[in-house]
Amino acid sequence: MKTLVTYLSQTGQTKKVAEAIYGELTGEKELKSISEVKNLEGYDLVFVGFPILQFDVPPVVKTFLSANTKDKNIAIFMTHAVPEGFEAIHSWTGSYEKAAVGANILGAFDCQGELAQPIIDMLLKSDDPQMKAFGEMGPSTKGQPDQSRLQKAKEFAKKIQAKV
Ligand SMILES: Cc1cc2nc3c(=O)[nH]c(=O)nc-3n(C[C@H](O)[C@H](O)[C@H](O)COP(=O)(O)O)c2cc1C
Repeated sequence: MKTLVTYLSQTGQTKKVAEAIYGELTGEKELKSISEVKNLEGYDLVFVGFPILQFDVPPVVKTFLSANTKDKNIAIFMTHAVPEGFEAIHSWTGSYEKAAVGANILGAFDCQGELAQPIIDMLLKSDDPQMKAFGEMGPSTKGQPDQSRLQKAKEFAKKIQAKV
């Protein structure tokens, strides 16, 4: 059983979740950023992680999923600045299912990740009230994902691996 954990992470928050998942896996395993992955040949299970950016799955991740995941066992993990359960989340995250055409999606995990200070500063200067409100939420994301969230990610990893 060979498992890959691959991720996109601009400011390190999704990488923390990737490392937590990776640490929990048994058997042969690899941890790589998405840009280091050429294809998914030889992996029995692939965890794909990314941050939600601009209310959507990042385009580079959609391209990766549609190019590589057909007939593959995959599991998704995501970080976002809003708290878990925020009502719009499903409309932001749902596009990974459309991108991963033909994949066997075993499950998905999402948790809050810290919004980087330069982004908070930029959002607070925005004329768009929605963006400004988003920036005001920034300080409440400090320190995320915390240990309890990382623990949930580890439990997710175990649950997914048990399915393969
Ligand atoms: C350009 C940009 C856009 C973002 N858009 C959203 C968003 O639409 N919704 C959200 O909840 N978080 C948004 N975030 C916050 C990130 O998803 C969150 O901070 C994530 O944990 C960052 O992960 P990373 O450090 O792995 O890149 C955005 C962050 C950036 C930098």
